[in-house]
Order: sequence, then structure tokens, then C-alpha cells
Amino acid sequence: MIRVRRLEKHYTPGVPVLRDIDFSIEAGEVFGIVGHSGAGKSTLLRCLNGLETYQGGSIEVMGRQVKDIDGAELKALRRDMGMIFQHFSLMSRKNVFENVAFPLQIWRWPVDRVRARVMELLELVGLTEKKDARVQDLSGGQKQRVGIARALALNPKVLLCDEATSALDPDTTLTILDLLRDINRRLGITMVVVTHQMEVVRRLCGRVLMLNQGRNVALGDVEELFLAPPRGLENFLEQEFTVIPGGTNIRLAFPRDISRQAVITTMARELGVSFSIVGGRLDRYRDDVLGFLIINVAEAELEAVLGYLEKNKLYWKVLS
Ligand SMILES: Nc1ncnc2c1ncn2[C@@H]1O[C@H](COP(=O)(O)OP(=O)(O)OP(=O)(O)O)[C@@H](O)[C@H]1O
Ligand SMILES: [Mg+2]
Repeated sequence: MIRVRRLEKHYTPGVPVLRDIDFSIEAGEVFGIVGHSGAGKSTLLRCLNGLETYQGGSIEVMGRQVKDIDGAELKALRRDMGMIFQHFSLMSRKNVFENVAFPLQIWRWPVDRVRARVMELLELVGLTEKKDARVQDLSGGQKQRVGIARALALNPKVLLCDEATSALDPDTTLTILDLLRDINRRLGITMVVVTHQMEVVRRLCGRVLMLNQGRNVALGDVEELFLAPPRGLENFLEQEFTVIPGGTNIRLAFPRDISRQAVITTMARELGVSFSIVGGRLDRYRDDVLGFLIINVAEAELEAVLGYLEKNKLYWKVLS
């Protein structure tokens, strides 16, 4: 669906913004792009639909080389790639219906088809009742629903999301993430999701690209990255755990098919050691729940415990 090879981009010569970026996205995937502010996320997203030029490498989207196309073909590419934004980018003086109808009118859809399509979209995002409301009277979550309906109006194959939930409170964020996941499932639409919120990655994305100063620092399956963060990315991927002084604190991570209870009790029994459970947490991912557990092990027993964890191929990390 999307294939990016050795992409290089700068705004000012000698100041690279994207360096040697490689990745592919399959049809139907929800693909995340994360990184700190200034990492190049929005730039990369805008390169995908030709809103930005680039200086090296290639971007192929749905069989077309983005660099080579212009005019009507570029317009068609953008029609096939809807986009939503952090601050919604709606026309504040117009009502909900008019905002969603706008792209259809640009493409000169006949009035009756516009009406039917807008009503269908408003139902999809749960805003049928608000069709005549002015967008300035809506809540943030409702505004983003209008943004989503407008982005989907022309039946795009890809939805590009740039910090779509960053201006929303945590509860509203979850409802919008659920809506996007639902749309991905029901319509099979491919999504590219730029965010600096790890919660968004966990809940919505299947794979993720992590950027740091324009470079790819990690690329892979979301659950695998959170279970076993690559060196140097721990701080980015892990939430802080409070640990107790003395002994050694070890973080265990459990994927879906391992029962926490059994691992802990079996280890205690086999090794004949005891340890305290200091903390634990369950995190929801898009289709799964992953468990994290902190145990505290006395120095005398550390070697045996680490040997056991290693032998049984569990996900673990010494915290202190
Ligand atoms: N139009 C532009 N002209 C010149 N430099 C730009 C332009 N847009 C972005 N940049 C620079 O490119 C770099 C990457 O910016 P970009 O907006 O892609 O980052 P980002 O990862 O989306 O950050 P944020 O999380 O803050 O949105 C930054 O150093 C930024 O200052
Ligand atoms: Mg940005």
C-alpha cells in the first residue's frame, strides 16, 4: 500500500529533517509514527500525500511514485488519502452538515448524493443529531468526529492522522481511538497515525515507527516493543514504576498466552525461594491486555532467579 525507501528530506540544505527512512505499510494496517516534538513526524506524514517534497529516496503509494505525479493525478492521490488534524481544521462559521459536505461539493457531487453521503457519515461517527449545529458550539470530541466524517467523505483508502487526539481530554481520547479502531475494522481503511502519546500507540496501532531527530530508532510490532523495549528506548516506552529500596527489583512482562500466577508460583516452588511482589499493572492494547509485574529479590537469590527467567525465555528487566 505504502512503501518508503531511503527517504531524505530537508527544509534547509545541510539540516536534514528525515534521514534514511525505510518502511512499508500493508493495506488495512494501523501504523503509528511516534517521536518527540521536532522528530519529523508531521513532515513524514505530509510527504506521504505529496504535501511536502523530499530530496532523496522514494515514496510509493498505491502503486504511484509520489514524486512523479502532479496536477489531476496528485489531486486524485489526495482524494484517496483523507487527513485529520490536532485542531480539527473545520470551518467554524458553517454547520456540521456543511463541513462534511465540503469535499463532496469540491468534487461536484450532485446535491441528492451529497445529502445521502453526509447523513451516512454522520451516522458512522455518531453525530446525526448534531447535523445543523454550528461547529463552534461543539465539544472537542464532537469536532474531531466532524473532522473524521469529512476525511472519510470521498471514500479514501488511507486515513492520515496528525495528533488527532492531542487536544482532547483522556476520556474523549479513548472514545475517538475506539471510533478510529472501529472504522479501521469496518471499512478496512489503512491508517497512518502520528502521535507523541504512547496510549494512542498501545490502543490503536499494530506496528509503529519511532523517530528521533529524523532517524528511525525502532520499527516493529507494538506489543513486542512494549514487552521488550530495545536498549536506549526504555524511557520512551516504559511508564515509571515505583520500586522499593533493598534487594533487586525486576520487571516481568507477560504476553497474552502466559498466566502470571502460574509463572510466579512455579518459579518460587522450583527454586525454593520467595520474593515479594512490589507492583503490577495491566495495560490495554488494541486487541489484548499485557501484564507487568515488579518483584523484589534478595541478593542471595538473584542469580538463581535470573537464571530461571533466562532459561524460560520470559520478558524481564532489572530495574535497580
Ligand atoms: N515548513 C517548514 N520549514 C522549515 N522547517 C520546518 C518546517 N516544518 C517543520 N520544520 C522543521 O522540521 C523539523 C521536524 O518538524 P515536524 O513538524 O515534522 O516535527 P514533529 O515530529 O511533527 O513535531 P511535533 O510533535 O512538535 O508536531 C523541526 O525541526 C521543524 O522545525
Ligand atoms: Mg507534528
